[in-house]
Amino acid sequence: MEFICGRAYTGRIEHVCIGIEDGKIAEIRKTTESSSKEYGSEIILPAAIDVHVHFREPGGEYKEDFFTGSRAAAMAGVTCVLDMPNNRPAILSSDAFNEKVKKVERKACVDYGLYAGVRKDVYEVKCIGYKTFLSADNEIFCQPQNIETLLIEVKKTGKPLAIHAEMEECIERRKTQNLREHGMARGKDCEIMGVERVLSINEKIGAKVHFCHVTLAEVAEKIGGKASFGSTLHHLLFSRESRFGYEAMGKVNPPLRGERERENLYRIFEGGRIPILESDHAPHLMEEKKDFESAPSGMPGVDATLPILLHMLMEGRIEMETMLDMVCRNPAKFFGLNKGAIEVGKDADLIVVDFSAESTIKPLSKCGWSPYEGMKCIYPKDVYLRGEKIVDNYEFIGEGGMGRMIT
Ligand code: NCD
Ligand code: ZN
Repeated sequence: MEFICGRAYTGRIEHVCIGIEDGKIAEIRKTTESSSKEYGSEIILPAAIDVHVHFREPGGEYKEDFFTGSRAAAMAGVTCVLDMPNNRPAILSSDAFNEKVKKVERKACVDYGLYAGVRKDVYEVKCIGYKTFLSADNEIFCQPQNIETLLIEVKKTGKPLAIHAEMEECIERRKTQNLREHGMARGKDCEIMGVERVLSINEKIGAKVHFCHVTLAEVAEKIGGKASFGSTLHHLLFSRESRFGYEAMGKVNPPLRGERERENLYRIFEGGRIPILESDHAPHLMEEKKDFESAPSGMPGVDATLPILLHMLMEGRIEMETMLDMVCRNPAKFFGLNKGAIEVGKDADLIVVDFSAESTIKPLSKCGWSPYEGMKCIYPKDVYLRGEKIVDNYEFIGEGGMGRMIT
């Protein structure tokens, strides 16, 4: 058996040797005589899981493809991504799903699950869960009168349903020139209304619901323990008053809110009351972001979220337990992934962090930019995917095809 030894966080920081067999953690002991990799001052942590990425394959490969997206994830310490179905074509049939699997399986550098949109014949596919939009931003849109049927059908599969909960009837479909106008056209009420509607319909159905990218503390409170939800780092760190190179770099859905709403969300994040942190990695080219009105919504993030969190952790701005809950334990638990903890039986997905190696965010995505560029961060030094090293001394050494699909 191969061992990785060093100081690891297992509820506290202690020296351990992690024995790995068939990609899984087989044993955790204090010392070992067997062949082992010994780390010094670094800390070994479970690698992160990102339950919300848009790797753009098929149809948007010029912005990102499954190789570049999953490589960026790996370098940022994320060894498992769940990829959204708003592709071209949208993943709304079993044929589209299976075609996508064929394309991405040779390219994935980390483990992945694929969401499917909801139409009749997708109930057969090997998706990790379903995704729907209450906003008519793309073909995966669900009309309000269909929410009930959708929840009932998804409930039968036993799989989770991730919901983009901005309510279309509330969105003002008009041209906007800046972040303030974009934020007003898709106001707070649209998110509140969407979440309330789903919660009340689902009360008697009990489908397994995850609300994506919650931007408001009051929405988080409304959801309480009734469903899972995620928030993004961009809604925690940026507001519509933030300044970007091009204003549309901050154009995203749901919109960046006002500074006060951002502060309120940040407060519950610090307090450990956000179950899941998801990047909503939505890469678009800088070229497409120059003109605000025509710019598509979305910004990259899978390549920056964990490195920035690790820096916050180093500065004592968040607790280790809070971080692990948000990016490891809760995502694993809700989506049923055998990852997210240094425990016997779990996949040996590990990151090794040198907390003295402060760095700054560089874009790792094919789209070539990051709204976080230049921010202080700590990248993982080494990353292991099921026991295999895929990042060595900050350098990606994995290959497309190493990632396995999780169903
Ligand atoms: C996402 C995208 O670009 O695919 N954009 C975004 O602003 N978040 C779609 C989505 O999640 O709404
Ligand atoms: Zn969304």
